[in-house]
Amino acid sequence: MSIWKRKPMALLLAEASESEKGLKRTLTAWSLVALGIGAIIGAGLFVRTATAAAQNAGPSVTIGFIVAAVGCALAGLCYAELSSSIPISGSAYTYTYATMGELLAWIIGWDLILEYAVGAATVGIAWSEYLNNLLVNVLHVSPISYEWCHSPFQTSTDGVSGIMNIPAFFIVAVISLLLIKGTQESAFVNGIIVVAKVAIVIMIIIFGWHFIKPENHTPYIPAASIFKDEHGVGHNFGGIMGILGAAGTVFFAFIGFDAVSTAAQETINPKRNMPIGILGSLAVCTVLYILFAHVLTGLESVEFFRNGGKEASVANAITSAMPGYGWLAQFVTVAILAGFSSVILVMLLGQSRVFYSMGKDGLLPRAFSDVHPKFKTPYKANLVILVIVGLFAAFIPGDIVGDMTSIGTLFAFILVCISVIVLRKTEPDMKREFKTPFVPLVPILGIVVCLAMIYGLGWTNWLRLFAWLAIGLVIYFVYSKKNSRLNNQDKE
Ligand code: ALA
Repeated sequence: MSIWKRKPMALLLAEASESEKGLKRTLTAWSLVALGIGAIIGAGLFVRTATAAAQNAGPSVTIGFIVAAVGCALAGLCYAELSSSIPISGSAYTYTYATMGELLAWIIGWDLILEYAVGAATVGIAWSEYLNNLLVNVLHVSPISYEWCHSPFQTSTDGVSGIMNIPAFFIVAVISLLLIKGTQESAFVNGIIVVAKVAIVIMIIIFGWHFIKPENHTPYIPAASIFKDEHGVGHNFGGIMGILGAAGTVFFAFIGFDAVSTAAQETINPKRNMPIGILGSLAVCTVLYILFAHVLTGLESVEFFRNGGKEASVANAITSAMPGYGWLAQFVTVAILAGFSSVILVMLLGQSRVFYSMGKDGLLPRAFSDVHPKFKTPYKANLVILVIVGLFAAFIPGDIVGDMTSIGTLFAFILVCISVIVLRKTEPDMKREFKTPFVPLVPILGIVVCLAMIYGLGWTNWLRLFAWLAIGLVIYFVYSKKNSRLNNQDKE
């Protein structure tokens, strides 16, 4: 029984052709770009941008976006190679099982919970912020009281403590139940949401540009200092470290482009279209994000985003700094609630695929891969996910789960970059429909940029990642190693 045992590539590919049988190659480069944008634009832009400006970088959050985009592009090229050669559900977990053995596969599978489950909780919390904005500014009714839409670790400016974030729990539960029923977002609905999301971003850039106050952009890169947040945690503010911290925080806004890489088998001419899909959606989002962040930090000051404009920051900044544009704030609120829901759906779906694969491999209880007799969905996995994500959404503040998502995903990206280098050595003849250019330079640069962002996220987040991985290791050695299908085949 070895913790380094790798899942044989032939077995993986056999499973792949079994599970993905009958998929038609219908996706073009443009449909991949739309798929990517649909999964990408969400809470990262509409919540985390203001947080990064307030806690880390002020207006220079725009430079943070550039750093994050470079890291994503490099890792994205690595994702494209792996997904075109190992086209099976389970994403980075599956790639690692084939390349670096069971222990590392477990670590990445455990770590992906941070990307998908904790990420979904973060977007759920953002949904809750904008729901209150909808109630007050669009429907003109009273908001949900502070204690029932915040975690116990948060306190309002007038001293009210949060108890539980009920709306965040609610949206996670509703979407989990929809997934159990097998509701996948239709291409049509996804198309409408993509158009609405891009439209609001472009409108904010165009209309907001005239309301930029130069004093909010001066200095563009604030002097280095330490900012203490409401939990007493210090953040590097200003200077290079501020930019790296902002990059780590807004990195969240790019998560989801890897969803494009999982569609390799349904893509026409993946060799050409996969990189266009991944890099194209990243490029479009990067340009929009930089302009958007430039406008947002020009509309209001860092102080505003630390205090009154902390929640539903974009709608609040429009209301406060763009007189006559109340309608835009309302439109943003409605569109983004729909947009967040679709991001949550993609993330919960991703999580259930990873749990499903891990259940099949025996690293998690087999029940995780049980399929509902009628709906044909991994409903037990979905129910467990509902509980995990619901607890995070209800009881942990958005800033903490957001940063945990970023650091967990950055760690996953690093392992994906390493996998490409390893796999070129161990499986040189494997069929690769898309090849990462300039290996090992591109993966190595990807690792360096992702590490720089992890560094920028600061020691509290390193500690959280470390604690999370330590819990995972205990579970592996107590349960998964003994129950692994691969290890038990060994004994037979
Ligand atoms: N990129 C996605 C978002 O920002 C996860 O919500």
